[in-house]
Amino acid sequence: MAKVKNTACIILAAGKGTRMRSSLPKVLHKICGKTMIEHVLKLAEPFGFKPTIVVTGYKGKDVAKAAKGAAKIINQKKQLGSADAVMSAEAAISKFSGDVIVMYGDIPLIRRETLKQVLLRHKAKGAACTLLTAKLRDPSGYGRVLRDENNEVVSIIEETDLSFNDRAVNETNVGAYCFDGKALFEALKEVKINKNKKEYYLTDVISILKNKGLKIEAFSTKNEDEGMGINSRGELAAAERVARSRVLEKFMDHGVTIEDPSTTYIDPGCVIGADTLIRPFTMIEENVKIGQNCAVGPFARLRAGTRLSDGVEVGNFVEVARSYVGGGTKIKHHSYIGDSVIGKDVNVGAGTITANYDGKNKNKTIIKDGAFIGSGTILVAPVTVGKKAVTGAGAVLTRKTKVPDSSVIVGIPGRILKK
Ligand code: UD1
Ligand code: CA
Repeated sequence: MAKVKNTACIILAAGKGTRMRSSLPKVLHKICGKTMIEHVLKLAEPFGFKPTIVVTGYKGKDVAKAAKGAAKIINQKKQLGSADAVMSAEAAISKFSGDVIVMYGDIPLIRRETLKQVLLRHKAKGAACTLLTAKLRDPSGYGRVLRDENNEVVSIIEETDLSFNDRAVNETNVGAYCFDGKALFEALKEVKINKNKKEYYLTDVISILKNKGLKIEAFSTKNEDEGMGINSRGELAAAERVARSRVLEKFMDHGVTIEDPSTTYIDPGCVIGADTLIRPFTMIEENVKIGQNCAVGPFARLRAGTRLSDGVEVGNFVEVARSYVGGGTKIKHHSYIGDSVIGKDVNVGAGTITANYDGKNKNKTIIKDGAFIGSGTILVAPVTVGKKAVTGAGAVLTRKTKVPDSSVIVGIPGRILKK
């Protein structure tokens, strides 16, 4: 994507997020495994805004750490409101004459295409401010966008200040704006404290600019989800559902069948081949790679570092962690496979457990091609099971056991029988 020239970005993340009832700053709560501030930074990143500034306050050091050098950090001394937060970033972009994007750190669901539309409209119309709006079925809690008889935006009014009639307005302020930088900082000086909330509202800048005869534009997203601001745990959970279903849609677009998206969790960093079937109640964690034509679940958990080759079947109540599983291998019921390398066409019987952890170290289990692991086998790692070897039901393979190719091992502790 082409970088946007001469445009700065200010992300507001100083608030505590009182309604979360958390000791963690609000923007550090996670959605799909990533903090909200990271989501917003990731949205901004491809545009190449310079500088990108994150305004911190409550537990600012922790927020700065999550922002990971992606941005300049500015501290807002006291949380006097969103207008004050933007003003505190002014010094960091002094002598700057371009446009300034302002986004709140608690709006994690905006799509890149949408922000791009806001920018395009802003540049095309030569506006002093272009804001992103959404039309919500239930707009309560959000600032409302008021328009005049020519359908021009005239102001944003917060819920607590709305007149009875304006309560029905369902166009909301999302919290992402593109401003002419000079006009923004001039107007900020004129913002007066809000009597209800005792805060300086950034949203008051809209009517100030309008009253100066400057142009206000709006881009309205058709997608309700993008308008979600996260203020409470309930909204956090709702955003998680949206973000999660977006991730699953991507996998489905690439040819993966997901039987029940509402009970399936797949980390966005995973790779899954076409025609693989993901059955209900399945959790697939960071960076797992799955080949084509596999079947996973129901009730399976694949943890970080797991790789399944093509045609693998992992069934109910199976957990696989940090392991490689070769093509055509089946692990269908009640197993734990950790730190293992399993070859192709292996049958892992029900209830097979790798005892990979000895209290200090995680040890490796190697099971070679074509082996048949009997039900209830316990493999106390490190162990190796040779090609086409067989373990009897309930066998316990003690530490350092090496089962030769094509041989049979039975009992507790495991005894190797003849080939
Ligand atoms: C804000 C908007 C509202 C909009 C909604 C969208 C204002 C006055 N209202 O309301 O129109 O519909 O977002 O979700 O802007 N912050 C600071 N410093 C402060 C105060 C806030 O950095 O002193 C940051 C917060 O950390 C947060 C953002 O600004 O990321 C918005 O503040 P918040 O209190 O969540 O505003 P809302 O009431 O949600
Ligand atoms: Ca908010």
